[in-house]
Amino acid sequence: MASRALLVLLASLAFSFLLSGSVEAQGLSVGFYSKTCPSAEAIVFDEMSKIIKLAPSLAGPLLRMHFHDCFVRGCDASVLLNSTKGNVAEKDARPNLSLRGYGVIDRVKSKLEKACPGVVSCADILALVARDVVVLSKGPFWPVWTGRRDGFVSIANETKQLPPPTSNITTLISMFAAKGLSVKDLVVLSGGHTIGISHCSSFNDRLYNFTGKANLADIDPTLEKHYLAKLRTICKPNDAVTFVEMDPGSFRTFDTGYYKQVSKRRGVFHSDEALLEHPLTKAYILKHAAAPESEFFKDFGDSMISMGNIGVLTGSAGEIRKKCSVIN
Ligand code: HEM
Repeated sequence: MASRALLVLLASLAFSFLLSGSVEAQGLSVGFYSKTCPSAEAIVFDEMSKIIKLAPSLAGPLLRMHFHDCFVRGCDASVLLNSTKGNVAEKDARPNLSLRGYGVIDRVKSKLEKACPGVVSCADILALVARDVVVLSKGPFWPVWTGRRDGFVSIANETKQLPPPTSNITTLISMFAAKGLSVKDLVVLSGGHTIGISHCSSFNDRLYNFTGKANLADIDPTLEKHYLAKLRTICKPNDAVTFVEMDPGSFRTFDTGYYKQVSKRRGVFHSDEALLEHPLTKAYILKHAAAPESEFFKDFGDSMISMGNIGVLTGSAGEIRKKCSVIN
């Protein structure tokens, strides 16, 4: 009897091992282009290495672009489509007005079209570029699951599904859950704010008129006071032009600097600060403010893979766009 139970256990272990060893999930796979365009990933990395060397400040917006793509209609490159007569696209909606780097995606796409015409989707380019800018900023490598296809639709109004920087913890958790992402994914992916910049306009409400009293001394009391004073010297009320480094001093290096900042209540957004209001996210921040990078790096790769799975189009759904900004 005992040996039969053991056999069943071994069989189920072998089965789950087979499952975990499999690269197929939701129609995506690692190395999807290995036969149809074997050099696809090398072409992307090579192009991104040249671009980031010349313009390192593009790493931030290109990582953010994949997030903004995946949270609206899934990772289908809807963020790249231009507005048309009668339709305002995601690109022209408020949260995306500060995105940059569309020209980079076009440049990578045209290299890929030369090597293998009509094969590599714009949605996969966004996922590969996001990974490569992290690697090129000294962050982790993770295997990108590919095989996404490009969508036909992009609607400005749907960018409401992107969490605003004023979000509290309840809103953040529910907006991530709506995309199938966990509380852990939320705190791990927020670590993306270790690179890049934010415009003053994204957090000025914390520096002035916080409770709407039309009083310049009305500040967000949860923001550490010396940092707040510094931000107020940089950002003037209604300043729409100036920007700050989100992880000052190492905003071009992918590291655990974000958690160090947030643990000192120096996260620029209310949504960063809000992560200290939930036991799980708070514990993660405090741990990773001091821990070696390796665990965060592994977690970040895993959460990026989960984010990259949101609402993907595979098989015969969607299309492979010839130009990323317009449908074929
Ligand atoms: C948790 C909810 C999130 C909120 C509320 C949020 C909000 C924002 C805002 C308001 C900005 C500044 C835009 C500007 O003023 O120029 C920003 C920048 C950025 N975000 Fe997030 N974000 C979130 C999650 C994420 C995720 C999941 C990633 C990627 C994994 C990400 C990556 C970035 C990066 C890299 C930048 C810098 C962009 C640049 O340098 O131009 N964010 N985010």
